Amino acid sequence: MSYTAYFQRYLPLVEEHMQGVLERGDEVVAGHYAMMAYHLGWRDAALKPARVYAGKRVRPLLLLLATEAVEGDISHALPAAAAVEFLHNFSLLHDDVEDRSPTRRGRPTVWSLWGIPQAINVGDGMFALAYQALEGLADHHPAARVLTAFHLFTETALRLTEGQYLDMGYESRLDVDEQAYVTMIEGKTAALLAASTGLGALLGGAEEGVWRAYYTFGRYVGLTFQIVDDILGIWGDEQKVGKSVLSDILTKKKTYPVVYALTRSQVAPVLRELYAGPPFTERDVPRVVALLEESGAKEAAWAQARRFHERARSALMEAPVPATPARDALLEFVDALLTRDT
Ligand code: IPE
Ligand code: IPE
Ligand code: MG
Ligand code: MG
Repeated sequence: MSYTAYFQRYLPLVEEHMQGVLERGDEVVAGHYAMMAYHLGWRDAALKPARVYAGKRVRPLLLLLATEAVEGDISHALPAAAAVEFLHNFSLLHDDVEDRSPTRRGRPTVWSLWGIPQAINVGDGMFALAYQALEGLADHHPAARVLTAFHLFTETALRLTEGQYLDMGYESRLDVDEQAYVTMIEGKTAALLAASTGLGALLGGAEEGVWRAYYTFGRYVGLTFQIVDDILGIWGDEQKVGKSVLSDILTKKKTYPVVYALTRSQVAPVLRELYAGPPFTERDVPRVVALLEESGAKEAAWAQARRFHERARSALMEAPVPATPARDALLEFVDALLTRDT
C-alpha cells in the first residue's frame, strides 16, 4: 500500500484527536483557542468554523506510519501524533513572528492578523497543548515508556529552539559553512521529524535498536525535507508552497543554496559583498537569485538532498528492522521528498 493511502486513513483520526485536545469550555477565553484553530485550519479569519488547508500534517502521519511499521496499535499512538503536530505548529506561530512572514499555507499569519503579542501567546498556548496531548499516553502505555516519550519530546523541543536560535543568528553572519548549516537544520527541522518516527516506533512497542533506527530515519528525512524546503523557498511556486518566495532572501537566511554560493562558488565574492551590505529590499531579490543560479547552488542543493535521502533509506535498510508493508511505505515517502513541490 502506498504511503498516501495510509495517510488518508490516518488524517481524520489525527484531526479528531487534535480537536478533542483543543476543545475547552470557558467562553471568556474562547478567542485564544479560536486563534489556535485559525492557525490549524479549523476557523477562518473571522474566527468562524471552517475547513481550510492548513498544512501537510507530515509529522503525525509519519509517527503513525512508524507505529504501523513495527506492527503496533496506532490508536495508542494518537496522543503523541497530536503532540508532535501541536509542537510543530507552536514553532510555526513563533517562527512567523521571528521571520516576519506575512503568509503561511496561503493565508495571513496569526501575528499579521492579531498582532505580535497575541501571536506569541497563541504559540505558548499551543506549546502547552502539545504536552497536554502527550499526557494521554498514560492511558495506554507502561510508565517507563511514557517517561521515555516525555524525555524525548522535551529534548526535541529544546533542540528545535536551539535550531531557531542559530537560524536567526545566522541572518547577520557571512561565515556560515555547510557544517554550521547542518547543525542549524538538525535542530530546527530534523529533531522533530526524528522524534516523530522514533516515538511512533517506540509506542508501537519496538525494542530500542529498532525505534532508534526509526529515529535516525526521521532525522535524515528531516534533513532532506529542509533542503528541499530551502529550494522551494527560492524557486518554488508561491501558490503551491503557500508562503512568500521572497522571505528567505529578504531576511538574509542562510539556506543551503545561499551557504553554498557564499562559500564554495565562483560568485562568492560578489555575493558576499551584497550580503555584507545594507538590508535587502524587494528590488535586490532578482539580482541575488540570478547570482545563486549562476553559482550552481540549486543543483548543489539537490545533490545534498539526494545524499541525505540515501542515508534515510539506509537507516532502515541496514538496521535489523523487520520488513513490513508500512516500512516500505516510509521508504516510498522519503523517495517522494525528492520530487515534492508543496
Ligand atoms: C514547515 O514545515 C517548516 C519546516 C520545517 C520546513 P511543513 O512544510 O511541514 O509545514 P506544514 O505544516 O505542512 O505547513
Ligand atoms: C522551519 O523554519 C523550522 C521551524 C519552524 C522550527 P523555516 O523558517 O525555515 O520554515 P518556513 O519556511 O517558515 O516554513
Ligand atoms: Mg525560520
Ligand atoms: Mg519561517
